[in-house]
Amino acid sequence: MAALPLTAQVAVIGAGAMGAGIAQVAAQAGHPVLLYDNRPGAAAQAIGDIDQRLGRRVATGKLADSARQACLANLQACDTLAALADAHLVIEAIVEQLAVKRQVFGELEALCRADCLLVSNTSSLSITTLAAELKHPERFAGLHFFNPAPVMPLVEVVSGLATAPDVVASLYDSARAWGKQPVHTRSTPGFIVNRVARPFYAESLRLLQEGAADCATLDALLREAGGFAMGAFELTDLIGHDVNYAVTCSVFDAYYQDMRFQPSLIQKELVDAGRLGRKSGQGFYDYREGAQRPRVQALGSDAVVTHCVAEGLPALFDGLLTRLQDQGVAVTRRPGNGVLRCGDAVLALSDGRMASQRAHDQGVQNLVLLDLALDFATATRVGISWANNTAPTAVAQAVALLNRAGLTVSALGDSPGLCVLRTVAMLANEGADAALQGVASVADIDLALRAGVNYPRGPLAWADTLGLGTVVTVLENLQAAYGEERYRPSLLLRRHLAEGSRLHD
Ligand code: NAI
Repeated sequence: MAALPLTAQVAVIGAGAMGAGIAQVAAQAGHPVLLYDNRPGAAAQAIGDIDQRLGRRVATGKLADSARQACLANLQACDTLAALADAHLVIEAIVEQLAVKRQVFGELEALCRADCLLVSNTSSLSITTLAAELKHPERFAGLHFFNPAPVMPLVEVVSGLATAPDVVASLYDSARAWGKQPVHTRSTPGFIVNRVARPFYAESLRLLQEGAADCATLDALLREAGGFAMGAFELTDLIGHDVNYAVTCSVFDAYYQDMRFQPSLIQKELVDAGRLGRKSGQGFYDYREGAQRPRVQALGSDAVVTHCVAEGLPALFDGLLTRLQDQGVAVTRRPGNGVLRCGDAVLALSDGRMASQRAHDQGVQNLVLLDLALDFATATRVGISWANNTAPTAVAQAVALLNRAGLTVSALGDSPGLCVLRTVAMLANEGADAALQGVASVADIDLALRAGVNYPRGPLAWADTLGLGTVVTVLENLQAAYGEERYRPSLLLRRHLAEGSRLHD
């Protein structure tokens, strides 16, 4: 079964944020679209809102008026479910309640054509469960769009236990024909994105709770070193803490309280206080009139550095060494065990141990640990931490060296794995476990995180680049430091490491 022909009628149920957006996508692709909502007038109102949105795009020259008119001509509001009887595809985007959705699908099955595909846009309900009471569960699947649907490219095509492969193929091809980036996933809690992205929020929340750094500094590290569009606090303020916390709780419960998904008490406290983020005026940041954005913490140094020695430094740091040389710092390269020496300071990428622990284990004086950056050739900030026996003069020399390369330096308390490194390691770990469990392919998991939440690199490709040995070591050290199974490395990472293969091979 290929993509639905453009003559095929698409029906969307629920004219809220998602339903209206999905109806717009299908109508813009060229399908006749019926939009139904059980609130009288809501569907017509939603089409009016689409008209206004498209009108603004026409006014700014981003859309031809003929395209706006073609889209609107394809959209029709209707006030009864019975009006959807001839649809070839029905996409449900109503309230997220199992009983209500089941009732609607039961009615649809009785009134729609035998070959009509029935689809839910649910974020958190099981497709298998939604289909369980249907007479023909094989024609039922999930199409999980992201908000706002007309803008976000990703669509997770979700198979329940009974979904027929040709139904999945048709939905996948149709989503692609609509200009979306579809990925395949099995119906498991959180599907791909809402599961694999959890550590992005969770690790920052933990670091904040432990007092490693403030929100603004942790956000700046994820943005300016990690290459993410937003840090975890500004992003959850935007999403809304009620929504983000509820997703975390639902995934945590669905995986039988696996500590990997443990919700955060500090986020719960915000929800309890009604500080839901931007929409309520306060979240981790204050959005009320006149409020000051907190300053991002940065270290200064008056040390003078002219020379450094790179001893067997990983290729990850080549961009940093080039930047130093470009700024007139003499760089000597020689074999060694992966450290950068500058004056008394010994700089190294974190391996997931606390700096004090590693300094003690290795008998190193003046150890300064570096956080990960997506690309040291272009990063503008880097996080560091240091051991309790590191002299202030050594910290100053390390900061001066990094400043010479054009990097702003932010200090983290002596936390295992710093910020970007542990976030990326945990994202990769979750992605690897999802791949191991057959939720989705390695390629689709990376694609989903790039297209669904805008990550600068898929976490599994990132793990391949870092080296699976490095990722597993970081996770094992985090597990040892916290004594928590939360950080246990995925079997898939260990397997590829043992085989000497990459996740993307
Ligand atoms: P919403 O609250 O904006 O819209 C829901 C609409 O459904 C309302 O207009 C309501 O009147 C209508 N409705 C409720 N019960 C109905 C029924 N029995 N029959 C017909 N219409 C009914 O909700 P939103 O945010 O658009 O979410 C809809 C669905 O999409 C939910 O399943 C949600 O989990 C899912 N979703 C939401 C995302 C988001 O970011 N908001 C992202 C991806 C999926």
